[in-house]
Amino acid sequence: MKILSIESSCDETAAAVIEDGRKICSSVIHTQVEEHKLYGGVVPEIASRRHIESICGVTAEALEQAGLTAREVDAVAVTAAPGLIGAVLVGVNFAKGLALSAEKPLIPVHHIRGHVAANYLAHPELEPPFLALIVSGGHSHIVEVQDYTHYHILGHTVDDAAGEAFDKVARTLGLPYPGGPSVAAAAKTGDPKAYRLPVPHVEGKYNVSFSGLKTAVLNEVNKAQMKGEEVNVPNLAASFQERIAGILAEKLLLAAADTGAKQVCLAGGVAANGRLRQLVNDGAQKLGAKVYLPELKFCGDNGAMIAAQGYYQYIAGHTAGLELNGLPTLPIDYE
Ligand code: KG4
Ligand code: ZN
Repeated sequence: MKILSIESSCDETAAAVIEDGRKICSSVIHTQVEEHKLYGGVVPEIASRRHIESICGVTAEALEQAGLTAREVDAVAVTAAPGLIGAVLVGVNFAKGLALSAEKPLIPVHHIRGHVAANYLAHPELEPPFLALIVSGGHSHIVEVQDYTHYHILGHTVDDAAGEAFDKVARTLGLPYPGGPSVAAAAKTGDPKAYRLPVPHVEGKYNVSFSGLKTAVLNEVNKAQMKGEEVNVPNLAASFQERIAGILAEKLLLAAADTGAKQVCLAGGVAANGRLRQLVNDGAQKLGAKVYLPELKFCGDNGAMIAAQGYYQYIAGHTAGLELNGLPTLPIDYE
């Protein structure tokens, strides 16, 4: 079964054709990041307008690369929640028009479920149940993926999402948006032990909190300024990355040990972080759990992951009528 997918929930316009949830026939991603960089973050109205401009071209290219017309795919999947609502609606409305004109079933896909499904593209042998650490710009969750469409949330962030913390710390350090890659790049030449940053206290065994950590970085910058000095950016970036990656890996591995999970995976934009990948790999090996990581190109937003999850939503009977609407928020464990 070949599914054409549309993704437009943030600042990437993307489309893909995926066969049976696993085989990549095509994947096209048009990023707006250079434009949003000018403002230090995603500007929602600009995002919506750019999606409107590029969605036809991106979809046509995905079909062309797959050697198919819209009439030759079996269904159209689209990110319907969560995300910047104006951006989500562009994709949803476009997918509805496509499904109507090509007479295809329409499959709404939860964006974060899609991030988890990025792992199915890289690992044909991966099947639920497994434990997932989902870390993106808007979400930080530890989730038991019970089957392809059922999830149990074990832990979550009580304040900032992991990607959001990277983005805010980058801004504090004068590094460009998006913060994750720029903090990681600065950290390469830094000493992760140079600054002693706190481990935030948080209620709930598998919950995380990053707002104290973010404030601690800001305090270091202010302290240096008051002394007429400059903060050492690579050292502070490395110390922050070490701390946040350490917290995330520790919580995932704690949940894996407690639940006896034999398989763990990472998902979302922050899953591209090299230090996090390394810590999870090392820790899981000690636990005897197998680690699955999405390919770097499918950690960030893309259409392929939406078609992959769309396949399993379709198998479970989760199609939508043409009255489908988008939602800015929706928990991953929605029924
Ligand atoms: O999943 P994603 O592309 O979009 C959302 O669904 O939110 O995640 C974007 C987030 C941004 O906050 C970005 O700074 C972060 O992922 N990110 C990273 C890295 N690459 C992207 N964070 C840490 N290290 C990275 N290498
Ligand atoms: Zn995302």
